[in-house]
Amino acid sequence: TAEKEALRERIKELLQQRNAVLVAHYYTESDLQDLADETGGCVADSLEMARFAAEHPAQTLVVAGVRFMGETSKILNNEKLVLMPDLMATCSLDENCPIELFSDFCDRHPDHTVVVYANTSAEVKARSDWVVTSGIALPVIRHLAAQGEKILWGPDQHLGRYIQRQTGVEMILWPGSCVVHEEFKAEALEELRQRHPEAAVLVHPESPEEVVAQADVVGSTTALIQAVRRLPNKEFIVATDAGIFNKMRQLAPEKILLGAPTAGEGATCESCARCPWMEMNTLERLAYVLETGEGEIKVAPDLAARARIPIQRMLDFAK
Ligand code: 13P
Ligand code: SF4
Repeated sequence: TAEKEALRERIKELLQQRNAVLVAHYYTESDLQDLADETGGCVADSLEMARFAAEHPAQTLVVAGVRFMGETSKILNNEKLVLMPDLMATCSLDENCPIELFSDFCDRHPDHTVVVYANTSAEVKARSDWVVTSGIALPVIRHLAAQGEKILWGPDQHLGRYIQRQTGVEMILWPGSCVVHEEFKAEALEELRQRHPEAAVLVHPESPEEVVAQADVVGSTTALIQAVRRLPNKEFIVATDAGIFNKMRQLAPEKILLGAPTAGEGATCESCARCPWMEMNTLERLAYVLETGEGEIKVAPDLAARARIPIQRMLDFAK
């Protein structure tokens, strides 16, 4: 619509005026992703978002995603202004891993190396030895195990179990989960696969074990997008947030994409898996924070310095 076009133009102007760059996650709405692409920002998984933020020279970073993504950018760039369209956009993994309880949990296993998923608060990161995203978890855990380290993992138990199965490394797990991926139903997925026997099944490792077990490809959002391009299949069943379809369609418009079922009936539903917090990122909110400077992410400098160490370890390992 003309109204939306005017809003997009206004945001482009504001980004320029502020010397700001837009970094969006693949789960945000298509309009935001497209704007990031068009304005020299980036659309990425959480590992690439961190890398991009660490290297980009812009004075202001606008992070469309959930809070931990903005915090990671701020931790890596404490001198920069980091804005988010909605500071209330959180993540169930972060919410259910409060620092006091997690710290006690770590204290009970003092001989363990603490590895946390990026979907955590700055405080939890500061308590850890390593931060990883789904895009780099397997090689980091293999590396640590090869050095004989015992590992405590948090907060995503499904990703933790997946890592254990893939690497054979036993870990102590924190019992967290993602409210979006936990909804995928294994039996309904089996039915859908029977109706689409040629389809390749792509699964994010935050999904339950019985869903992951049916996957042809398990990986980060970037890995799943690459799979749609790389594999010869015409049809794909995708078990992750539906926001990812935007990039998949752009890169492989000839492919047919089916959302994995979140309800028992085996029905496919493209929009049923949606992260409620990712959905809080809208064009309107983006324009508002760019105009007002509200939505600033703040991390106390001493906390940022401590949280930076395990994040930087991940980025150095990824090089
Ligand atoms: P990625 O690191 O794969 O982008 O995942 C982040 C996330 O929140 C998945 O739910
Ligand atoms: Fe967190 Fe799940 Fe939303 Fe990703 S999809 S941000 S893990 S709640």
